[in-house]
Amino acid sequence: MLKVRQVSKVYEGKVSYRALSDIDLTVEDNEFVGIMGPSGSGKTTLLNMIATIDEPTTGEILINGKDPHRLKKEKLAQFRRRELGFVFQDFNLLHTLTVEENMVLPLTLDGKKVSEMKKKAKEIAAKLGITEIMNKRTYEISGGQAQRAAVARAMIHTPKLLLADEPTGNLDSKSSKDVMELLESINEKEKTTMLLVTHDPQAASYCNRVVFIRDGKFYSEIHRGDNRQAFFQKIIDTLSLMGGDSNDFSSVRV
Ligand SMILES: Nc1ncnc2c1ncn2[C@@H]1O[C@H](COP(=O)(O)OP(=O)(O)O)[C@@H](O)[C@H]1O
Ligand SMILES: [Mg+2]
Repeated sequence: MLKVRQVSKVYEGKVSYRALSDIDLTVEDNEFVGIMGPSGSGKTTLLNMIATIDEPTTGEILINGKDPHRLKKEKLAQFRRRELGFVFQDFNLLHTLTVEENMVLPLTLDGKKVSEMKKKAKEIAAKLGITEIMNKRTYEISGGQAQRAAVARAMIHTPKLLLADEPTGNLDSKSSKDVMELLESINEKEKTTMLLVTHDPQAASYCNRVVFIRDGKFYSEIHRGDNRQAFFQKIIDTLSLMGGDSNDFSSVRV
């Protein structure tokens, strides 16, 4: 599904800054992979390059065997719209629109018929348990509901790869759990491959595998197996071995 090969990223500026060094990562179809590391370790940089929002300085990223970075601008936009789904920490919903209007946005951009969009929105909303808020505007709903709506928008075109950057970063622990359970069920039922950047060990414990990076380099990876609680403990242990910014542990929830 996804192959990251020897990817490095140097941000050029007055002083150039090496944010990632020689990252290798292979993600299989239907895998749910977490990426963790102290703040500033390069997690968002890596996700943005996979999302084709940013380009690697060296190395190669293949999604289903193709390198989207080689596509021309229009084809790239289409690839991003059709193959990828995104969920962000701050939900990225448009405040002047209703939840339903936000959800169908990716379909609008792809020129789908209104009746088709409405049908699709209804189906997804039912699946994700947000039918009752479809006509509300984003300022009338809670953070947890907003993130569910954002997940709905990211899923409406059934992307093959869903990329989430700190999707629980602005949520309380109950809403975080709801959103993670939602992502887990989408991963299982829709067979969507997922990549989750998070510094929250509880959120990461829903993944099949967690890859740790530190100072822009691969540090280690651990696999879940069937015991989520034991995996959660292993994640905490790895984070404390790895060290880093103490703020990164402020959101630890058991
Ligand atoms: N556009 C940019 N220009 C220059 N430096 C950047 C830019 N984006 C991120 N960085 C730097 O790259 C490093 C990694 O950032 P980031 O990927 O956002 O880390 P994380 O998501 O793990 O907190 C940080 O030191 C950050 O300051
Ligand atoms: Mg980040």
